[in-house]
Amino acid sequence: MYAESERQLSTERYLREDSASRSLYERALQVMPGGNSRHTLVMDPYPIYATSGQGCIVTDVEGQERIDFVNNYTSLILGHSHPEVTDAVAEVIGKGTAFSLPTETDIRLAELLIERIPYIDQIRFANSGSEGVLLAVRAARAATGRSKIAKFEGCYHGIYDYAQASDSSRPRNWGDSERPATTLEPSMAKSLETEVVTLPLNDIEVCCELIDEHRDDLAAVLIDPLPAALGLIPPDPEFVTALRAKARKCGALLIADEVLSFRIDYRGACHRLGIEPDLVALGKIIGGGFPVGAVAGTAEVMSVFDHRDGELVHHGGTYNGNPVTMVAGYETMRRLTPDIFDKFDRLGDRVRDGLQQVLRRHGIEAVATGRGSLFAVVPGTEPPKNFRAVFTARSAAPQLQGIAREMFNRGILMGSRGLFGSLSTPMGDAEIDRFLEAADGAAAHVLAA
Ligand SMILES: Cc1ncc(COP(=O)(O)O)c(C=O)c1O
Repeated sequence: MYAESERQLSTERYLREDSASRSLYERALQVMPGGNSRHTLVMDPYPIYATSGQGCIVTDVEGQERIDFVNNYTSLILGHSHPEVTDAVAEVIGKGTAFSLPTETDIRLAELLIERIPYIDQIRFANSGSEGVLLAVRAARAATGRSKIAKFEGCYHGIYDYAQASDSSRPRNWGDSERPATTLEPSMAKSLETEVVTLPLNDIEVCCELIDEHRDDLAAVLIDPLPAALGLIPPDPEFVTALRAKARKCGALLIADEVLSFRIDYRGACHRLGIEPDLVALGKIIGGGFPVGAVAGTAEVMSVFDHRDGELVHHGGTYNGNPVTMVAGYETMRRLTPDIFDKFDRLGDRVRDGLQQVLRRHGIEAVATGRGSLFAVVPGTEPPKNFRAVFTARSAAPQLQGIAREMFNRGILMGSRGLFGSLSTPMGDAEIDRFLEAADGAAAHVLAA
């Protein structure tokens, strides 16, 4: 693919004393702690700064182009600057970006999403996936009159304290596997240790025991149908069915976090994976490239937001449902027809099969995972079942991170999560070929080093 001289040039330019990225990083360090407002942008020794994106290509400040397999951590499903979405957004910006009066724009996006997602009747918009999760948790508390939340060890749900607890558990603090500790950052209130119940994925016996222990206080169980931190592997179907039944029996709601995984199916990840949640948190792709979050669910549960019923959850937000995000989201979502998801399934399978072959060819014990347009690689001989297994395997296979990093030098944009990525509609077989060629070269390079 890339001539060797071109490949070297790309690494050299970025790492040179006078590189534009280096000088931007030095400026950033003066004004932002660590030089950023988002920890996922951290890169060693400093990030590659971007100037523009078009379709599936991102250009950096050194003028280097790469195929973007990160898509702003999965949020850009049509790639960058889709011309028709951009035109629609430009038009709406010309008419005013936010009002203290409602507009038609959020109704249109709400109608589209409700028509597609079989398990929701109503929706409300916010400005980030974290807020979507927060609102789902608050709605569950209001609907049940209980306060505790159960979530799965190691799963990332954004930065709402109750959902973020235990997302970075480590062997030194995670405790007994049959009673996982609720681990906290120093910035979180100590009371979360009792307010958040941490569950092990795929172990229904332990989950039922822990749920029973807290049954009178438990408002909801929060689950990600395709958790990225656990290697994009869906929970076992029997486990989910039993968990659904258990939550219902105890009067707790089941919240699905589809902020990231919604992009795997026209009708949503829970539809694809056979999960029936009471509430769903959405974000990322539904904003068409603009900040967005949402909570959706059955009419009964969503009525907690209804001011006519006493408004059990007060939900303000200066930019909720703003016309720019709503138009971008609508114009994006309506272009995602069922045949697009079929194409993603096919191309995603090509990526997963191709990566598996690369791993086999280089003798790396790891499994290519994911669904539809999402893919990842997790170490081990078979897909791990829970966070502890993923964590332990990852620590033993540092070369995977190195391969993802080396792909930067071969024209592929990867993120800080290692071999984890997503597809966008401008991609076709040619981009997948280039991706797999780069992965093969990167694996050879890293193993030789
Ligand atoms: C599963 C999941 N939930 C919630 C969030 C939080 O979304 P946001 O970054 O928009 O706050 C993310 C973000 O990556 C996510 O992957």
